[in-house]
Amino acid sequence: MIDLGAGQPSPALLPSALLRKAAANRLDGKDAPFLAYGTNQGDGYFRAALADFLGEHYHAAVDAGRLFVTAGASMGLDLLCTLFAKPGDTIFVEEPSYFLALRIFADHHLKVISLPMDAGGLIIEALEEKLTRHRPVFLYTIPTFHNPSSVTLGADRREKLVDLSRKYNFLIIADEVYHLLNYASEIPPPMASFIDSDTVFSLGSFSKILAPGLRLGWIQTGPHLLKQIIGCGLLDSGGGLNPFASALVRSAIEMGLQQTQLTTLKTIYTERKGALSHALREYLPDTVRFIEPDGGFFIWLVFPEGVDTEQMRVEAGPKNIGYLPGVKFSSRNGLKNCARLSFSYFDAPELKEGARRLAEVFKSHLRLR
Ligand SMILES: Cc1ncc(COP(=O)(O)O)c(C=O)c1O
Repeated sequence: MIDLGAGQPSPALLPSALLRKAAANRLDGKDAPFLAYGTNQGDGYFRAALADFLGEHYHAAVDAGRLFVTAGASMGLDLLCTLFAKPGDTIFVEEPSYFLALRIFADHHLKVISLPMDAGGLIIEALEEKLTRHRPVFLYTIPTFHNPSSVTLGADRREKLVDLSRKYNFLIIADEVYHLLNYASEIPPPMASFIDSDTVFSLGSFSKILAPGLRLGWIQTGPHLLKQIIGCGLLDSGGGLNPFASALVRSAIEMGLQQTQLTTLKTIYTERKGALSHALREYLPDTVRFIEPDGGFFIWLVFPEGVDTEQMRVEAGPKNIGYLPGVKFSSRNGLKNCARLSFSYFDAPELKEGARRLAEVFKSHLRLR
């Protein structure tokens, strides 16, 4: 089975040797403060190492005092929903959006309104128009190498988005978990560079650049919003999140291992992305459109109108090929003719074979209709 729905690294890319070295380094000393309850904001040494690491990649200084440690981006998002929204509140999301974020919003009983995107990301004029009719508490966006569409919000649009958040008084939750997985040269600065507006949260994670099982990430935000997070009951009771994983990853950063791993992943994913894009162009007809991504994990296929990718997936099962149907990424039961493929899990020959099988399924689907 080649399940191109799997948006995670292949088992061989999980860095057990790296983490053994990092753990040996951290567990060497006789003190192990990271086994006690941690400070609410998250381990200070880890935040300092993370700030240096991010500063290098963002080409701008990152203040460790503006970082809050989370147990992953999903947990961070859930915490922000708990603290900054209440059941029944309106929020804005992109169409398409990350399907599991939609599940978190459903847990919090939020009213989700979707905004259209194009090849340059969220369409700001559409946002402005919706703001005349709705009062969202926050807008959730995946600005760089979007999941699932892989597009990146342009620099101008980022500025306009922040201006609108100030003018209309809503928060921006920018899920930036793919920002460091850049396979081309230039990308706009992260939304994290706008935190002084005190309307922006930037969510980051080690899931995509090291290992999802660490359950470790961060929120970067301005002092006013940060204070509200640090003072919450969850932390009062349990202390800062994930001090043990923070301690290991601190060593991984300080020893240069995180940077080596990121460089390796970028090389591998660039090759995989190229292999899948090439094979899709070779096997699928031109009526199936996609943009070759510059980063992240995904290729978003747009089939001709009338194709139902959920139905087609049922037909794909016996041919041992899988993907995620577009409807999963829609908050209004749309995008039925779209599909998300991931190139993070399988190697280049498998991706090529996956594209070949998918094209076969598509052709027989057209005959069956
Ligand atoms: C946009 C986006 N946000 C969050 C996550 C999950 O991140 P974490 O493992 O840090 O919770 C993913 C993983 O697929 C993702 O694509």
